[in-house]
Amino acid sequence: MLHTKKWFGGSTLLTLALLILAACGTPATPTDTSGAAASAAPASAALAASAAATTGNKLEIFSWWTNGGEATGLEEMFKVYKQQNPDVEIINATVSGGAGTNAKTVLVTRMQGGQPPDSFQVHAGQELIGTWVVADKMEPLTQFFKDEGLDKVMPKLLLDQITYNGEIYSVPVNIHRSNMLWYNKKVFDEAGLQPPKTIDEFYTVAEALKAKGITPLAVGGKDKFETPHLFESILLATFGPQDYTNLFQDPTAFADPRMGTAIETLSRMLSYANTDRSSLSWADAAQLVLDGKAGMTIMGDWAHGYFLSKGATPNVEYGYAPAPGTDGIFMWLSDSFGLPKGAPDRENALAWLRVAGSKEGQDAFNPKKGSIPARTDADKSLYDEYLQSSIDAFATNTLAPSVVHGAAANEAFMTAYGNALNVFSADLDIETLTQSLVDSAAELTQ
Ligand code: GAL
Repeated sequence: MLHTKKWFGGSTLLTLALLILAACGTPATPTDTSGAAASAAPASAALAASAAATTGNKLEIFSWWTNGGEATGLEEMFKVYKQQNPDVEIINATVSGGAGTNAKTVLVTRMQGGQPPDSFQVHAGQELIGTWVVADKMEPLTQFFKDEGLDKVMPKLLLDQITYNGEIYSVPVNIHRSNMLWYNKKVFDEAGLQPPKTIDEFYTVAEALKAKGITPLAVGGKDKFETPHLFESILLATFGPQDYTNLFQDPTAFADPRMGTAIETLSRMLSYANTDRSSLSWADAAQLVLDGKAGMTIMGDWAHGYFLSKGATPNVEYGYAPAPGTDGIFMWLSDSFGLPKGAPDRENALAWLRVAGSKEGQDAFNPKKGSIPARTDADKSLYDEYLQSSIDAFATNTLAPSVVHGAAANEAFMTAYGNALNVFSADLDIETLTQSLVDSAAELTQ
C-alpha cells in the first residue's frame, strides 16, 4: 500500500484538484511509456519510440528532465550507460514540468498501480524518505553503496538525507544550488549596474531596469514551482539560514512577524516581474534574461545548464550571484535515483545506479546539467568557472535545505506551501497568503 497519508495528508480539495489536473495534463499513463516520453526532447522521444516497440532488454528511466541542460545532461549519462551496456535499450520516460510538478503525480499513479519504472529521479531528503521509503516502496541500497565504495565519496550531509533506519535508499547524482540570481550581462554593463547583494539593492536595480523599459525580474509560473522557488530565497534572506531551517521543524514559527516581511518582499519583487508568468516556464523566464528582455531571474542553477545548452557563456552573455540577501549561504538540493521494489528490469536498473554513482557518470552529467557532483572526488577541471565556484561555495558556505525541491520538508507541506504561493502569484492577496502559509505549516507534523 502506498503511504498516501504523507502524500495527501491533510491536503485541501484544491490540492487534490490541482494534482488531478496536473496528471490529466500529461500524456503518461502507468503502462504507456511511449506516451510518457512523448513530452521529452526529440532525441529522447526517438529513443523511447524505438524502445517501446520492443519487449527485449530494457531500462526505463523516469524523470522530468526535458529542458535544455537537464535533458542534455541526462543524454550524457545515457551515453556512458550505453557504452557499458550496449545491448540494453533505454526508455527515456520523461514527464515535462519543472521541479517534477507533473512527473511526481504520474509517478504516484504508477507506483500505486504496481507499475514502477526501473529507476526514477527523486530528491534526496524528505521527498525520498517521507514519500517512498516510509511507504516501503524502495529497495535498500546499503550493500550496493559499500560494494561501489559510494559511502566513502559522498558528503555526510547527503548520506544522512538518503538514510532511513540505518539503510541507504538512493544514489545522489548531483547537488544544485537553489538561491541564485542570473542576470543579462550586456544589459547590466550598459546600465552600469551590479547584481544586487541585498533586497534593498534589488529594488534600486529593478527601478533602474524599469526606467530603461526592461522587465526587471523574469518569473515563470507554468510549472507551478517558480513563485514558491522565489519565495524560498526570500525566506532564507529574511530569516537567515538557521531560522529558515527551523521553520520546517517548528510549525508555530510560521506566525513569526518576519513572515509578514518576507511576504511584503515577495509582493514588491513581483511588482517588478512580468505579468504573464502563469504561461511561462522557468526556462522561458531564463530565456527572457538571455534575450535581454528581462534583466534578472532567481532560479536554481539548472538555469546555468539551460544557458549553456543555448551556447551562452557565464560572464559573457549572463552573470550570476547569490540571490539578494543570501551571500555566504548555499541552499542545496540533490537529485538522486532509487530502485523501486518490483522494478521490471532490476539488473539493468542496478547497472544504471552504478553509472549514476560513478565518477565517470557524474562527470559526464553535471557539467551539462549545471550542477556539481555529489561525489567529492570528481575531476574539477571538467567544470566551468561557475561550477567551480559552486563547488567551493558548497564546501565553505553555510548550508540550508531547499523546501521546494524536496530537501527540507515533507511532500504534503510542499504541496500546500506551493499552492499558497501559486495562488498569490495570480491574486497578490497578502492576507490570504499569510493565512494559507500558517495553515500549510500544519502539514509539517503529519
Ligand atoms: C528541480 C530538479 C532539477 C531541475 C529543476 C527544474 O527540482 O532538482 O534537477 O530539473 O527541478 O526542472
